[in-house]
Amino acid sequence: MKIISICSVKGGVGKTATTTFLAQALHARGYKILVIDSDANNNLTDYHLRNTSVDEIESRNLYHLITGEMTPDEVIYNGDIDIIPCTLSLHKIGLIMTSKPTAIMHFQKSIKRLDYDYVLIDSPPALGYELTNALYASDVVLIPANLTRWTLQSIQIIQEQINEMKSDGKKFLSVKAVPSIVTEKENQVLQSMGLDFTESFIKKAGAIKTAHDNAVWLKKDSAVFEYFNNLAGEII
Ligand SMILES: Nc1ncnc2c1ncn2[C@@H]1O[C@H](COP(=O)(O)OP(=O)(O)OP(=O)(O)O)[C@@H](O)[C@H]1O
Ligand SMILES: [Mg+2]
Repeated sequence: MKIISICSVKGGVGKTATTTFLAQALHARGYKILVIDSDANNNLTDYHLRNTSVDEIESRNLYHLITGEMTPDEVIYNGDIDIIPCTLSLHKIGLIMTSKPTAIMHFQKSIKRLDYDYVLIDSPPALGYELTNALYASDVVLIPANLTRWTLQSIQIIQEQINEMKSDGKKFLSVKAVPSIVTEKENQVLQSMGLDFTESFIKKAGAIKTAHDNAVWLKKDSAVFEYFNNLAGEII
């Protein structure tokens, strides 16, 4: 199993879209996939569980797994792609967990015991418990990045967190930035910045936005699916 977290402290860079469609590309290759929503604003949850009631999701979700109240099996919702969702209650997790310093290790262990080929964790655009917890569990970190004057900073802040974990002995297989929501020209500019970008890039496309915002799967034979399929090929 590989655990992949999709992280950036910059909002709106395509973290949730990358989590969703990379998961679909890996699923199409025949892998068994779990996605985890570690952003309390829960866009990933809304994509996957649009027809599940708020009460149901509130009663069993990532919050209960992190606090140790429930097992992974109790908080997983099964589908073509399985999901551990969250609700706005996850916003409280950082405050609650300050008294439980070993919980991050328990979370990692409980996920690693599961029977999946790939686990993808979406994370919030903020340095806090939810992001640290996701990074600590991860083998692979993908940092979606657009071309703006904040690009460099958005990547460096995640890399600093990773370097701190590495200096404490935590190992990562790979940490890469992914050009995301870009034109071909913008991708070229990003690639020339001397940073560790993936060769594959996710083009800005109305079809991705529509599918993401309307909770529809990308068509396997579409050009936009190929962006995520290429990314899948690069990280497996
Ligand atoms: N490749 C793309 N082309 C066009 N629109 C995109 C693309 N990827 C994502 N979007 C759209 O851009 C918006 C932001 O994307 P997304 O929600 O994936 O970003 P995010 O980094 O998860 O944001 P947040 O930090 O708020 O969680 C969404 O409306 C989404 O549909
Ligand atoms: Mg998001």
